[in-house]
Amino acid sequence: MSLDVVWHDVECGGYGEDVALWRQLAETETRGGEGPVLDVGAGTGRISLDLAARGVAVTALDSEASLLAALDERAAAAGLWVATVVADARSFSLGEARFGLIVVPMQTLQLLGGVDGRAGFLRSARAHLQPGGVVAAALADALDSFDSESDGLPEPDAAEVDGVRYASRPLAVVDEGDRAAIHRLRQVEGAGGAITSETHDVIRLDRVSAAEIAEEAEAHGFVAESALRIPATDVYVGSTVVVLRATGGLDG
Ligand SMILES: C[S@@+](CC[C@H](N)C(=O)[O-])C[C@H]1O[C@@H](n2cnc3c(N)ncnc32)[C@H](O)[C@@H]1O
Repeated sequence: MSLDVVWHDVECGGYGEDVALWRQLAETETRGGEGPVLDVGAGTGRISLDLAARGVAVTALDSEASLLAALDERAAAAGLWVATVVADARSFSLGEARFGLIVVPMQTLQLLGGVDGRAGFLRSARAHLQPGGVVAAALADALDSFDSESDGLPEPDAAEVDGVRYASRPLAVVDEGDRAAIHRLRQVEGAGGAITSETHDVIRLDRVSAAEIAEEAEAHGFVAESALRIPATDVYVGSTVVVLRATGGLDG
């Protein structure tokens, strides 16, 4: 397994609080609950594989080919079929494909580089929706700044793969104005607990509210419906899921 797959699984794989919500949307927003659903920023398939196992036709899109290769392998091992597309969420074109539902789980919408990146995504998504189709995207609740010296270290996300322990520990959330930078220490522990590698990773999340997304989406032919909530857990912040329905009249 490649290292980016391992770290993706360590940092995203344990999250499950949102699964019921995506299942419910697939059920209500696609005919007979059968899809088709487009999972944007699908990663190794946490949500795509779950929906496919429930009989939903899913296309998984991600910019990272290695993550989608892992998804392909896992789908095959489970006897499932998920179409995978390596593409940028800000400028994708899937030919004639049209979806009843486009989901954007976790904070992927906040990884697109601000208002211009979101505009590219909204334009692409709108063009690939069936009439009256829906984009549903999760936004993480505002992250409080913290640093390990003053606030102590949270427990790491960790997993053991082939006898090697991979642990990713949040070190700090730094306010960068319109973004929050999440700093993590990634440690690999070999036999006997010795640290064999240590790297510092930073992910920057755009700060954007559901109301701002609703306003941006209107210009691309969407109307925002009532947002949904994914509650916080002891480990994960809560999220607001913006629900954007395609209005008539535009392309798509
Ligand atoms: C927080 S992870 C979420 C993974 C998965 N959806 C889940 O819920 O477990 C964000 C994913 O978005 C992908 N991503 C980030 N920027 C992207 C972009 N511009 N286009 C497509 N995928 C992107 C990353 O490669 C990563 O797999």
